[in-house]
Amino acid sequence: MASIAIITGATGGLGQEFVREMLKENIDEIWAVARNEEKLGRLKEQFGDKLRTVKCDLSKADDLAELNDLINAEKPDIRLLINNAGIGDMGVSSEFSAEKISKTVDLNCKAVCLLCNYTIPFMSKGARILNISSASSFQPVPYINLYAASKVFVRSYTRSLNVELKRKGIICTAVCPGWIDTDMLNKEYKGKPVKFPGLVSPNRVAVQALRDSSKGKDMSVCTLFVKYEHFLSKILPQKVLMKIWMYGIRDYV
Ligand SMILES: NC(=O)c1ccc[n+]([C@@H]2O[C@H](COP(=O)([O-])OP(=O)(O)OC[C@H]3O[C@@H](n4cnc5c(N)ncnc54)[C@H](OP(=O)(O)O)[C@@H]3O)[C@@H](O)[C@H]2O)c1
Repeated sequence: MASIAIITGATGGLGQEFVREMLKENIDEIWAVARNEEKLGRLKEQFGDKLRTVKCDLSKADDLAELNDLINAEKPDIRLLINNAGIGDMGVSSEFSAEKISKTVDLNCKAVCLLCNYTIPFMSKGARILNISSASSFQPVPYINLYAASKVFVRSYTRSLNVELKRKGIICTAVCPGWIDTDMLNKEYKGKPVKFPGLVSPNRVAVQALRDSSKGKDMSVCTLFVKYEHFLSKILPQKVLMKIWMYGIRDYV
């Protein structure tokens, strides 16, 4: 039985770094999941035979069912699941279309739960699940409202799941990075460069997340800067935290 790791959003900034790091591990195959076939093809060229590309739109029920069928047909020994694919937009959330809201919730929340449920029957003691949340889950975040709320869901869901799966010896870690230097971030606004305090490389986040999960942590917080933000979110009222946030984005809204 092949031992595998499943990484969603594997063609993106953070996902690729998870692939890179997992290739160093003793694992037979890495299933790289994303929508864009060209990007998946390039990933395969870059990382080679151990990589298996799986084209799947995780916000679509039919695609998710196909992925479930594939898992059930192959019955692999799943050592690692990384629910990394995620989307988010800045903006006034009351103006978001029904489609945007559905896609965000379906990908960021629903697909995470379903993929956990599809893979857990094929996991044994020592297997790990990493669900990518965000530092935006530490407090309400106006103008990234929907995204941040979806990441609160991921963090809460993952930590509870970790408790539920203790008896099976499966570890679940909610990864809560701050700003990561990937294509997800709009680097310019009205022709001016946008500042992202505490911006880190995706490789740093991936390495720390894998290290924390292998230590059995239910949360991974990378960098002192984000640890400090996490600490502040525990001691300051949320109204104050939102005021600080609004001051930080005053040039953009
Ligand atoms: N960047 C940050 O500052 C930051 C901070 C905290 C947390 N995060 C989280 O980190 C994770 C990775 O983000 P990133 O910055 O690496 O983003 P990214 O560079 O935009 O990559 C996103 C990845 O998700 C895939 N994807 C998007 N929609 C999908 C769908 N419907 N079905 C399947 N795959 C889909 C994309 O590939 P295709 O387009 O080919 O499908 C791509 O591989 C996300 O969960 C994000 O919320 C990011």
